[in-house]
Amino acid sequence: MDSWVRFLFLVACFLPALVECRVRNYKFNVVFKNSTKLCSTKPIVTVNGKFPGPTLYAREDDTVLVKVVNHVKYNVSVHWHGVRQLRTGWADGPAYITQCPIQPGQNYIYNFTLTGQRGTLLWHAHILWLRSTVHGALVILPKRGVPYPFPAPQKEVVVVLAEWWKSDTEAVINQALQSGIAPNVSDAHTINGHPGPVPACPSQKGYTLPVESGKTYLLRIVNAALNEELFFKIAGHKLTVVEVDATYVKPFKTETILVAPGQTTNVLLTTDQNSGKYLVAASTFMDSPIAVDNLTATATLHYSGTLSSTPTNVTKMPLINATQVANGFINSLKSLNSKKFPATVPLKIDHHLLFTVGLGVNPCPTCKAGNGSRVVASINNVTFVMPTTALLQAHFFNISGVYTTDFPANPPITFNFSGAGPTNMQTTNGTKVYRLAYNSTVQLVMQDTGMIAPENHPVHLHGFNFFQVGRGLGNYNATTDPKNFNLVDPVERNTIGVPTGGWVAIRFRADNPGVWFLHCHLEVHTTWGLKMAFLVDNGKGPNQSLLPPPKDLPKC
Ligand code: C2O
Repeated sequence: MDSWVRFLFLVACFLPALVECRVRNYKFNVVFKNSTKLCSTKPIVTVNGKFPGPTLYAREDDTVLVKVVNHVKYNVSVHWHGVRQLRTGWADGPAYITQCPIQPGQNYIYNFTLTGQRGTLLWHAHILWLRSTVHGALVILPKRGVPYPFPAPQKEVVVVLAEWWKSDTEAVINQALQSGIAPNVSDAHTINGHPGPVPACPSQKGYTLPVESGKTYLLRIVNAALNEELFFKIAGHKLTVVEVDATYVKPFKTETILVAPGQTTNVLLTTDQNSGKYLVAASTFMDSPIAVDNLTATATLHYSGTLSSTPTNVTKMPLINATQVANGFINSLKSLNSKKFPATVPLKIDHHLLFTVGLGVNPCPTCKAGNGSRVVASINNVTFVMPTTALLQAHFFNISGVYTTDFPANPPITFNFSGAGPTNMQTTNGTKVYRLAYNSTVQLVMQDTGMIAPENHPVHLHGFNFFQVGRGLGNYNATTDPKNFNLVDPVERNTIGVPTGGWVAIRFRADNPGVWFLHCHLEVHTTWGLKMAFLVDNGKGPNQSLLPPPKDLPKC
């Protein structure tokens, strides 16, 4: 951004008549760095040499400027996952959707304002599989002087969960794409960058969270893993859930939380023991016969005054396929729905959409391991093909031939979706978007299919929060299921799990003009094509149009 524009920002922010706001400047140098885990070393792509990357702190209403400088050999882009990006789609980050990537040696300033949001989100690379190591937390504090709607914690701690491969993750996915079959699962999970001792490397220490007795801590838990939903638990302590995806929820106590890739969960931890060491653990949830990394990552909650030789109190994690534990947690989530933070669920719906999400099989003559075929993924049987011009640019500059606006509102054929599915599992390829008028309302039911295998898909929508109004097993029934919808205090989020062999119904208002990506946040499914985009037109009002692109928007 030109320095005089920045100056105007500063002036606007410091005018006494205006609410207090600030400009936060960050510099993200994308650089290689050698990293040792599981007793082996490899170079990884990082931001500023850190894994996880730096936490970005700001307050509600602040403007954030992040200068991303690409010093690596890959194209790079960064997404601010969950930030609404009102009218500023250019700063959203998904490569070839809202921008061309930042090429090696180039840079780009992401410029966005945090409007009407507070809580924990994450940022991550949004190209290739770089987000495996290029990610970090994004903390939006409430406006100065505005309290949390729960007892104030004495201390706040960011807890980033992730996955670690011994091999280079770009090699892992490239090899999988050549063979047509699934990529290798990760070799460990990490808690704030550390797997903790594992059989293959027992000497390796885990992350330590030092605490004092009799205090309340706010843990800001982020799942930055690529492909795995995680249970998270602390031995001997209950957690009070107060927020998910930067929206407040009705507080409830639980032993175990479930957090999917792209999701965040804030919990209060009361240190009600006198002393001791307690295990902190993260393990995979997978209730389908699909290969996953089943190693538990461990860390230690260490009370001050406890000798390091003291044995750690351990805990048992839920079974890997503990659907009931997962459902118990998900069903406990309700919007706070207070006067200050009302649940503004759309009640009148303009677009009723039904999207099937799942896998498929397409021909691939060169795929030896796949016997001449490859695994793909699709929405309404469309496997999304990435364009070479960013969709948002094509939209703004009226460039034709980049995408079509005929994304189907319903599955092309009806079958027993949650059953085994048709024998022909071939999908169609396309770069299709679904077009929405400004301010129209959408009900989107996402239905898992049993093709190849049913599976839980954490689906993320860019540019919006939505309400989860319903959820069920089997096939969605448009006559009976809506009778049980919660239109009063449904949880509001940006990433939602479509249950294994089931469906989830969400609602949102298309009040943000631009092009917004919707995709499964299991990176392997995104790679395979489980993605599409909504195109939201400009409104007629003064602040209802997409802003023009910044001067430094990267070129393809
Ligand atoms: Cu966090 Cu499009 O992703």
